[in-house]
Amino acid sequence: MSESTGGYFYDRTAEYVALLLPGAWAGLRPALAAALVGLDATAGPVVDVGAGSGEGVVVLADALPVAEIIAVEPHAALRTALLTRISGDSALTERVTVLADDVLSAQLPDRISGLIAMNVIGHLTPGERRALWAVLGVKLTPGGRAVLNLYPPYQPEAVPDAPMGEAVIGRRRYSGSAAAEPGGCDSVTWHMTYRVEEDGDVVTEFTASDRWYVLTPAELTAELAEHGLRVSAGDAAAGVQIITR
Ligand SMILES: C[S@@+](CC[C@H](N)C(=O)[O-])C[C@H]1O[C@@H](n2cnc3c(N)ncnc32)[C@H](O)[C@@H]1O
Repeated sequence: MSESTGGYFYDRTAEYVALLLPGAWAGLRPALAAALVGLDATAGPVVDVGAGSGEGVVVLADALPVAEIIAVEPHAALRTALLTRISGDSALTERVTVLADDVLSAQLPDRISGLIAMNVIGHLTPGERRALWAVLGVKLTPGGRAVLNLYPPYQPEAVPDAPMGEAVIGRRRYSGSAAAEPGGCDSVTWHMTYRVEEDGDVVTEFTASDRWYVLTPAELTAELAEHGLRVSAGDAAAGVQIITR
């Protein structure tokens, strides 16, 4: 996995991402489930791009009981969490296939009935993003649907440091916070600070930074229109965008 797809960032942060992301999914789970209502998953598999530790896979499996799921996760540590989750649930092992590639290298089926990319799209450079739209334009079945989320900042601007979540495991409290600064004409640099405390003492604390390409919902709509795809807004609080033909 290359540095441009977040490889170095996740080398440092995967355990904290796997631990703290579920908190962010409290709002995303119902928002994604709502966006999937009525999707006919019989015409082809559903792809989870950048599946991480598998939060989205579980929502897909619950919302689309007949769907075959292809989970694409290039980072080994996050893929380990994903495979551990899948292998512990026979309903998932029967219908989830894990691909250890980035989404543009992965061998996806010719036809897919759905695709999700949750908390992922900013990892793709504008060129990679457009290449993904081209893939979607070719492979998405006529009644198919893709779902992704966009969240601020939509433009290269600063975001003050704010808590991302926390978890207590045994004697230790894990927490994270995130701040962003402009990183160029089309990106920000996120600075994620992770902290582990025991009895009030800091055991570990570090900041890892990663580039994130930003775009507005209007820019997303314009990019997808070039491939015959339309965008409608889903749950606004979760930044859900629903893509159809
Ligand atoms: C913030 S995590 C989100 C994980 C998961 N979707 C979730 O919301 O819980 C971003 C994920 O995107 C993956 N990723 C980054 N670049 C990618 C690419 N080019 N293709 C596929 N996945 C990618 C990372 O390895 C990581 O698992």
